[in-house]
Amino acid sequence: MSVDKTFYVTTPIYYVNDKPHIGHAYTTLACDVLARFKRLDGYDVKFLTGTDEHGQKVEKSAEGFGTSPQELADRNSANFRELAARLDCSNDDFIRTTEPRHIRSVQALWARLVAAGDIYVGHYEGWYSVRDEAFYGEDELVPGPNGTKHAPSGAPVEWVKEPSYFFRLSAWQDRLLAWYEANPDCIGPQSRRNEVISFVKGGLQDLSVSRTSFKWGIPVPGDDAHVMYVWLDALTNYITAIGYPDITGEFARYWPADLHMVGKDIVRFHAVYWPAFLMAAGLEPPRRVFAHGWWTNEGQKISKSVGNVIDPVALIERYGLDQVRYFLLREVPFGNDGDFSHRAMVQRMNSELANDYGNLAQRVLSMIGKNCAGQVPQHGEPGADDREMLDAAHGLLPKVRDAIDRQLFHEALEAMWGVIRAANGYVDRQAPWALKKTDPARMGTVLWVLAETVRNLALLTQAFMPAASGRLLDQLGIGPDARTLHHCGSHHALKPGTPLPAPAGVFPRFVEEEGAA
Ligand code: MSP
Repeated sequence: MSVDKTFYVTTPIYYVNDKPHIGHAYTTLACDVLARFKRLDGYDVKFLTGTDEHGQKVEKSAEGFGTSPQELADRNSANFRELAARLDCSNDDFIRTTEPRHIRSVQALWARLVAAGDIYVGHYEGWYSVRDEAFYGEDELVPGPNGTKHAPSGAPVEWVKEPSYFFRLSAWQDRLLAWYEANPDCIGPQSRRNEVISFVKGGLQDLSVSRTSFKWGIPVPGDDAHVMYVWLDALTNYITAIGYPDITGEFARYWPADLHMVGKDIVRFHAVYWPAFLMAAGLEPPRRVFAHGWWTNEGQKISKSVGNVIDPVALIERYGLDQVRYFLLREVPFGNDGDFSHRAMVQRMNSELANDYGNLAQRVLSMIGKNCAGQVPQHGEPGADDREMLDAAHGLLPKVRDAIDRQLFHEALEAMWGVIRAANGYVDRQAPWALKKTDPARMGTVLWVLAETVRNLALLTQAFMPAASGRLLDQLGIGPDARTLHHCGSHHALKPGTPLPAPAGVFPRFVEEEGAA
């Protein structure tokens, strides 16, 4: 069966100068939820992640570690690949910018830009931040300690003076503004869109796209003295992975990307430079760039010098993978900054997962196990309260889908938890344990309504918490081919008499160790 609907989603590719931290895990997880949701919703999904391996920052770090940049890249790229696996991330490809397929692709794009007349040779003189791998205008700098100047990100800057190729970015100002105007959804959230538009309206300088003062990069075709600016190299990964420079096949199928997910610090590269490069090369710009916020740790900015970097693997080991996936996407409205704290993590894990969702499923499944011969119960005609419960569960999909399509993960989860809370209220009201003696047929109906509610919830929580949701679906006797979002709703409702395996809890409580804070 060929699927017509495609969805191409990408994470930023991560610098290999450092180990993976919570910020990387966050972006990757958000994309994984989208990719899983879209697959379950019938799309042919391509989900890409990978590593950004060239540039001065990686070269300098390698020097500091006393290794070659390639060795550092090999080691850290493996760490990022391993992280994706630990996150149970469903990426279809993992790209490295040192791969031959990528070098070929970037050089082909460069040739297109030259042929289009958008690249010329000149001389760059100005500020550069190695940490940000970004050029800054004098007017953008902010005062740093001891009278120094810093990038707006707080990164140090240095004065660079060298021969350079330039991309005619200034010529793209009006066409970029027209693109933003014609595509209201091309940048989200709105605050970032406004920021980008005002930056572009403020006037664009031509962009230096090659460097001569170091070697760790992709050579400019025909001029080996230059390596390409790392952002031109890195951004191109999104088309390399679908076969560029071949624009038939996967490229034709998946481009333009449906979504480049990025952090708020790298919006300008994705929403200004990248669409300009693409349009100059005669290619379509991406459909949407969405920028999420940054995490702090117990209220403090995360930084290596402070020593409060959060290791995502340690989090998973402590709280569990599904719990971490849930927390990161539930705790903050996606797009805003958020704070990671042990207290908040445990609070959500215990109250929303163990109490609300876990107890609901556990109560229902164990009552069915004990009182209905371990089979989906027979049910009578639903009454008003039953119907209201079923309608809420069966009506979730469009609400969740709409939130997911706008990257509002917290809203999607909030909608599901509204139904979970309603179901807990329904159990208390209907008290099926009391019906066991007085009206067993009615007990069967109530438990069936609840099991059907949990089935719909578990289908929808799969994208967020694949393992726990899968175990819930196992316990409801749902086979592997009945777990798509097409199976939400009344037409695939649980069949009375279906045998069910013995129930087991899927959301453990977090219990503080003795003496721990
Ligand atoms: N290599 C570039 C991206 C190139 S994409 C063509 C890069 N890499 S990075 O490794 O420095 O950062 C990757 C992502 O991590 C960015 O989207 C950044 O916003 C995100 N985060 C870094 N620290 C973060 C937090 N503390 N919280 C959330 N995300 C954070 O930039």
